[in-house]
Amino acid sequence: MRIWMTGGTGFVGSNIVHQAVGAGHEVLTTYNSYRPSGSEPYRLERIDMTDPGAVRRSVRAFLPNLVIHCAILNDLGGLYRDRAAAWKAYVEATRSTSRAAHDMGAAYVLVSTDWVFDGTQAGADESTPPNPVNLYGVLKLASEMVALDRGGAVARVSGVNGLHRARPASPRAQDPGYGYFVASIVDSLSRDRPFTVWESDRINMVATPSLASESADLIMDIGARGLEGVFHCCGADAIGRMDLAHLTCEVFGLDPDLLRSGPPDLTGISRIPIPYDTTITCPRTSELLDRTPSPVRALLARFLREFSSWS
Ligand SMILES: NC(=O)c1ccc[n+]([C@@H]2O[C@H](COP(=O)([O-])OP(=O)(O)OC[C@H]3O[C@@H](n4cnc5c(N)ncnc54)[C@H](OP(=O)(O)O)[C@@H]3O)[C@@H](O)[C@H]2O)c1
Repeated sequence: MRIWMTGGTGFVGSNIVHQAVGAGHEVLTTYNSYRPSGSEPYRLERIDMTDPGAVRRSVRAFLPNLVIHCAILNDLGGLYRDRAAAWKAYVEATRSTSRAAHDMGAAYVLVSTDWVFDGTQAGADESTPPNPVNLYGVLKLASEMVALDRGGAVARVSGVNGLHRARPASPRAQDPGYGYFVASIVDSLSRDRPFTVWESDRINMVATPSLASESADLIMDIGARGLEGVFHCCGADAIGRMDLAHLTCEVFGLDPDLLRSGPPDLTGISRIPIPYDTTITCPRTSELLDRTPSPVRALLARFLREFSSWS
């Protein structure tokens, strides 16, 4: 397969590139400010996803069977500071990438998020109507509508953990969501540094974590089969932050006595609503892909294997 994608130098996208190249596919990913050094086994093109002409030309030249849109303007506070730029980076970039895919007859997958739900819709499945509470969720939902209207697939990932395949050594920090949570705990505790697990009703306290490599497998499968509609690429278990921290200690063999509990650092985003419980389920995804979601312990064990083989 020939896969044209955005965001292949980011966290989730680098896992998609890794799986796709490993499976023998030809990949072209766009990049923005960061370009991996060395000779990568895939093509890199510097393209601003908000430039529809550049997107169209690149897709036409590459002749993909599959387009995956995974890039994101990852700045929750910044979305509010420049709403026009945010709309362009989310909704218009989805419009131009999905149009380019459609014009080439390629399958299309938009990577989306569990934050389209409002934090009180625990257990939401692929058919649950979303109700975003912040601008990030609104922009993702508007992007989803664009992708779906053009016959594409929406792959919602949730609380993604795992290795950043393009920038594995870059430091990770806890944030109000679940992304990078496990890596930031492993990073601190493996250096015998205490780690404060944030506890607050103003942040995402319960979620259904996923592992980037497993989400990448699912996204590739959705794209390869040319499926349409909404998919939930998540693990099997809902879990709270402190329970996930303890399970991480168990699986990675780290000292749980180094875990603390404390308030979050919400500098710059203190007035932005954040969904509390974003647990999701995946009945449609499991049925159409013929897969059973992995328990969170199994996801952590796979992360440990990936981490050990990299470090
Ligand atoms: N991480 C999670 O826990 C999580 C949870 C739910 C959903 N998601 C979804 O997963 C997707 C990927 O997120 P991520 O965590 O992997 O983000 P990430 O690590 O911040 O990666 C974002 C990527 O987008 C690129 N990018 C930014 N601006 C661009 C532009 N103008 N033109 C082209 N590329 C641009 C970035 O390149 P530079 O770094 O060079 O700027 C980077 O490669 C998003 O759709 C997000 O909504 C992630």
